[in-house]
Amino acid sequence: MAYDSILDAIGNTPLVRLNHFSPRPGVSVYVKLEGYNPTGSVKDRIALFMIRAAEEAGELQPGQTVLEPTSGNTGISLAMVCRMKGYPLLCVLPDNVTPEREALLRAFGADVVYAENATSTNDAVFKAQQMVRDEPGRYFMPYQYGNENNPRAHYETTGPEILRDVPEVSVFVAGLGTGGTLTGVGRYLKDNLSDVKVIAAVPHPGDLVQGLRALEEGFIPPVLDESVLDGRIVVDSVSSFHMTKELMQKEAIFAGISSGAVLKVAVRIAERLESGHVVALLADGGWKYLSTELWSRDYDETPEETQGTIWW
Ligand SMILES: Cc1ncc(COP(=O)(O)O)c(C=O)c1O
Repeated sequence: MAYDSILDAIGNTPLVRLNHFSPRPGVSVYVKLEGYNPTGSVKDRIALFMIRAAEEAGELQPGQTVLEPTSGNTGISLAMVCRMKGYPLLCVLPDNVTPEREALLRAFGADVVYAENATSTNDAVFKAQQMVRDEPGRYFMPYQYGNENNPRAHYETTGPEILRDVPEVSVFVAGLGTGGTLTGVGRYLKDNLSDVKVIAAVPHPGDLVQGLRALEEGFIPPVLDESVLDGRIVVDSVSSFHMTKELMQKEAIFAGISSGAVLKVAVRIAERLESGHVVALLADGGWKYLSTELWSRDYDETPEETQGTIWW
């Protein structure tokens, strides 16, 4: 397949059946490898949808700068899309960003500013909102937490790809960050299948699993539609690390830390099923997490059990 641009290479990521995580013969666990997108994460999908929709609506015009508060994957994805489309990108970063991430943003041509004394994404959001207010018309802020084109990207691309590849999917599992993946894929699957279930993997409040957020910390992203969820399972960060390493050891799949949390939940769900197919979305590859050395650590043989509620 020859693409006309790197933007056409977004999506259509591989779906792989895991051979060492299924609890019994009639139950399969599949993983969708979003690390195979051009910048290495699921966020390429929403970056393209948010920018394209803003252009079509006239909210983003040549000469304007795209401004986004982000320390993570979304910034890198926006940097690729903006580079291709010719918009300057300015990312507002919290103080604790790793040098690799800043270097990658700059490699794509993005500029960065630090939100002073900001340790969380929330502080970076306030700073970016202030910048938009201070200079009306200069910036366009996609704001992934409140932009309907975030779940729409998953409704129109990720969801159909999953149904095409596993037509009888019984349960879909993904991490909860903005909620865009769970909302968009969940809605699509529920619109097309009668009894599919959708389960969120979430961290403990205060326990960092990069890319995921605990709703108890007080911010419910506007794009999250909680009515599509059939359960929310909490996974601690050590278990997420452990499972990410186990995925490498047993299946030779190199994925990021939130993938370990998602896989842990997928396996717990699979254990409840007599038969069926569980599909887990792994948001990114392992490259950005090498400095954690999670793959060379030893882990306790009995990691903490998952907690949470399954409402079916
Ligand atoms: C590594 C990683 N995993 C999971 C997620 C969660 O995805 P979503 O924002 O669609 O809920 C994100 C994004 O926030 C992420 O960067």
